[in-house]
Amino acid sequence: MTRSLNDPWVLGGHRVPNRLVLAPLAGIGNWFVRLQARRHGAGLAFSEMVSSFGLKYGDRRTLSEFLRIHPEEHPVPIQLFGHDPEVMREGAAIAAEHGADLIDINMGCPVRKVVKTGAGASLLDEPERAVALARAAGEGSGLPVTVKLRSGLRPGERTGIELARRLAAEAGVAAISLHPRHASQQHTGEPDYTLAAELVDRIEIPVLLSGGLSSDERALAAYERTGAAAVMLARGSLGNPWRFQRLLGLRDGEPTRAEVIDELRWVVDRAEEHLGTERAGRYLRKFYPWYAVTLGLRKRAAEPLVTAPTTAHARAFLDRLSSAGAPALAA
Ligand SMILES: Cc1cc2nc3c(=O)[nH]c(=O)nc-3n(C[C@H](O)[C@H](O)[C@H](O)COP(=O)(O)O)c2cc1C
Repeated sequence: MTRSLNDPWVLGGHRVPNRLVLAPLAGIGNWFVRLQARRHGAGLAFSEMVSSFGLKYGDRRTLSEFLRIHPEEHPVPIQLFGHDPEVMREGAAIAAEHGADLIDINMGCPVRKVVKTGAGASLLDEPERAVALARAAGEGSGLPVTVKLRSGLRPGERTGIELARRLAAEAGVAAISLHPRHASQQHTGEPDYTLAAELVDRIEIPVLLSGGLSSDERALAAYERTGAAAVMLARGSLGNPWRFQRLLGLRDGEPTRAEVIDELRWVVDRAEEHLGTERAGRYLRKFYPWYAVTLGLRKRAAEPLVTAPTTAHARAFLDRLSSAGAPALAA
C-alpha cells in the first residue's frame, strides 16, 4: 500500500493530521511562524531551540517570548537544549507549565557556541548523558519526549543511529528526528537518506526526517524512499508556507503576488504583537529576503523591502507593490 503525506499518525499520544512538519529553527520558529505553518497545513510545528538554563534561571525574555504558545497551535513540541540533566528536568517542567505538549531535545545543533557547552551535537559522543537528559526531561515535565539528532559528529560516523536506538530503549523517547548529515557538515552537502531508511528499519518509534527537503519533489521522494513517519520542512518553507498546502494536494502552483503580500502583512502584524513595533522592525529583516524570493522580485526592486528599517517602511513597500503593475517588478 502506498503511503500518503495526508495520512494521520500518532506522536506521543497526540493525533497528528498529516506527515508534514515544520522543523525547529533557532531565531525563527516562534509561535507565529509555527501558527503560520499550521494554517498552511503542517500537521505539527516544532519550536525553535530554547535554553534549559534560560528557563531554569527564569530569564524573563526566555519565559515570555520563547515559551509563548498560541491557543490554536496545540499539540506543540517545545525544543530544549542543554547538557545538565537536572537543569533539563526543571526546564522541561517549566515548558510544560507554559503549555508545551511534547518536549523535544536538541542533540544535533553543530553551532560552536552550543557544542562547546556540551549541548547539541556534542551529545552524540556522550550517549550516557544524552539518555539521562531525555529521561530527566520526561520525568520533569510528565510529557512525551522526542529527540532531534544527526548521523554523527564527523564524516563517516554513525553514532546518531546507535544513540537513537538507546534513547528509544533506555529513555523511552516517543520519536526521533534525524538530520542525516554529520555535524561537521553544518547545513550543506547531501543528506544520507539511506542511513535514515536504516534507522526507520531499526527502531519501532516514529522517525521524522529532516534535511535537504528544499523542493516538493525532494520532500516526496525522501518520504517514500526512507519510510519515515513524517518529513520536516526547514529552509525550504521560509517565506513559502504554501509548500505545505501544495505537498498535501490542497493547492497547485506558487502563490499569487496578492497572496504573498497578504501573508507578509500578517507576519508583520504578528511580529509587532510579539515584540513591539521597534524590535519587530529589526527582527523581521531576516524574514524579508525570503518573501522577496517568493514574490519573484528583481534584486533592485526588492531592495526597499530587504533593507526596510522599520515595519512602517515594510508596510509602505507592500502597499506600493500591491498597487504596482505586476510585470514591472518581477524577476
Ligand atoms: C537558521 C537555522 C536554524 C536552525 N535551528 C535549529 C534548531 O533550533 N533546532 C534544531 O534541532 N535544528 C535547527 N536547525 C536545523 C533544521 O531544523 C534542519 O534540520 C536543517 O535546516 C536541515 O533541513 P533543510 O536542509 O531542509 O534546511 C536550524 C537550521 C537553520 C538553517
